[in-house]
Amino acid sequence: MERTLVIVKPDAVQRGLIGEVIARIERTGLKLVALKLSKIDRETAHTHYQEHVNKPFFQGLVNFITSGPVVLAVFEGPNAVSIVRKTMGATNPVDSVPGSIRGDLAISLGRNVIHGSDSPESAEREISIFFSPDEILSYERAIDNWIL
Ligand code: PPS
Repeated sequence: MERTLVIVKPDAVQRGLIGEVIARIERTGLKLVALKLSKIDRETAHTHYQEHVNKPFFQGLVNFITSGPVVLAVFEGPNAVSIVRKTMGATNPVDSVPGSIRGDLAISLGRNVIHGSDSPESAEREISIFFSPDEILSYERAIDNWIL
């Protein structure tokens, strides 16, 4: 079963949007298997965003993601990465459609509410940065026969 990492970014925590963001992903039917409130340190942010280290926005991105508490979550289910990316909407809120999280809740590329892994390989790498295996739960839901 595929897993993906979701980060409810510092802007969304400050705006009181944690429940809204997590609820929108829960409603897709994906299973929440790990969840915590945390503050990302700069070293961990560098590791997480390592593929963007040479981008002009890298320092700003690290400053932002370390600027306050975030919520870290792991969702599991068929095509979890793509389902979350669709629910998030495009990276730049100018392009994200109404009905998506960013389309409805964000107006700035630098303050875009949510991170979701961009591939199953990235997801496995990112999840291992933030969660130990014993923090990720395996459990059945009574509704699984109606979703999966
Ligand atoms: S790229 O260049 O296509 O690989 O970048 P992209 O995947 O679109 O974005 C990678 C993450 O960087 C954030 N980003 C920015 N932050 C601040 N300013 C600017 N200009 C900017 N451009 C991209 C973007 O939100 C992505 O963050 P995550 O947390 O992965 O969503």
